[in-house]
Amino acid sequence: MNIGILTSGGDCPGLNAVIRGAVRKGVRETGDTFVGLKDGWRGLLEADYAPLTTHDVRGISGRGGTILGTSRTHPYSQGGPDQMKRVMKEHNIDAIIAIGGEGTLAGAARLADDEGMPVVGVPKTIDNDLNNTDYTFGFDTAASIATESLDALRTTAESHHRCMVVEVMGRNVGWIALHAGMAGGAQAVLLPEFPVPYEQIYTWVRSARDRGRAPIVVVAEGFVSEDLDDQVSDAGRDKHGRVRLGGVANHLAPLIEEATGVETRATILGHLQRGGSPTAYDRVLATRLGMAAVELVHHKKWGYMTSLSGVDITSVQMALAVDNLKKVPQSRWDELQVLLG
Ligand code: F6P
Repeated sequence: MNIGILTSGGDCPGLNAVIRGAVRKGVRETGDTFVGLKDGWRGLLEADYAPLTTHDVRGISGRGGTILGTSRTHPYSQGGPDQMKRVMKEHNIDAIIAIGGEGTLAGAARLADDEGMPVVGVPKTIDNDLNNTDYTFGFDTAASIATESLDALRTTAESHHRCMVVEVMGRNVGWIALHAGMAGGAQAVLLPEFPVPYEQIYTWVRSARDRGRAPIVVVAEGFVSEDLDDQVSDAGRDKHGRVRLGGVANHLAPLIEEATGVETRATILGHLQRGGSPTAYDRVLATRLGMAAVELVHHKKWGYMTSLSGVDITSVQMALAVDNLKKVPQSRWDELQVLLG
């Protein structure tokens, strides 16, 4: 078969490992050929692609970003499914592997289920917010970068007896904040799922200060305190109308300083968490998911995505995975409490 691969939505460490895994598996085992579609759905809509050989994917599994480029182009724009079908026919592309997050996979599910297109998916997101897969690649890398940053900030915080508020990514869910906060020994962890009041944050900071610690507060960018009406965003909206989050740490730092008397600084980690080399865990997961995507194609499981269940790679219907987000459950929040303050 001639298989088109695309990466769509925000990039994520591990995308290149998926591409390599798929190409190696397809070329070596099932005699497939591949084309790399540029910048997500745009590449398919505009027939902008290049051949992807085993030579092209040599040595890329440790490289961050995506060699194919990515964009947030909507699959139903620019002529949508009809245009895609035309391009696939004219260019002899038999199937599509779409690697993406919730938005991409929701689009891919519609193309397969409603338009009858030969599309399978591979889930990715540093936020780890996709349902029906235990983890997404990119998350381990992002949580590790955030943890290393907490370790670094702690040494300067301790020297100055300061509080540090560290903002991590997480639009709707707090998985990165939860894992980095636990791994880095934060005294306060603020997640979008659990809107604690300001007074609770001050109590955690005071308690750490009273024990002689430099308090570290980890906050997910999408956190909304009980005392606020909406998410904090300093940067308006992107060209697709999505709120550009970022700034909740800057909002909280002066409030904490004022209420507790502890000198406080804010750091926003931002896109640092999405860049650089994937961890070994993410490389392995991504490679396995890429290889499994080729199997889905050969079994004609259109509308399905590869998925991690425990330590096994399985497949699930994409439409089910994008139904609602995988939030941090109450049990993980309750478990965390003993470590705070
Ligand atoms: O969904 C992944 C993510 O990294 C979010 O955590 C973040 O809010 C968003 O993407 C940032 O998107 P962009 O790169 O378009 O600013």
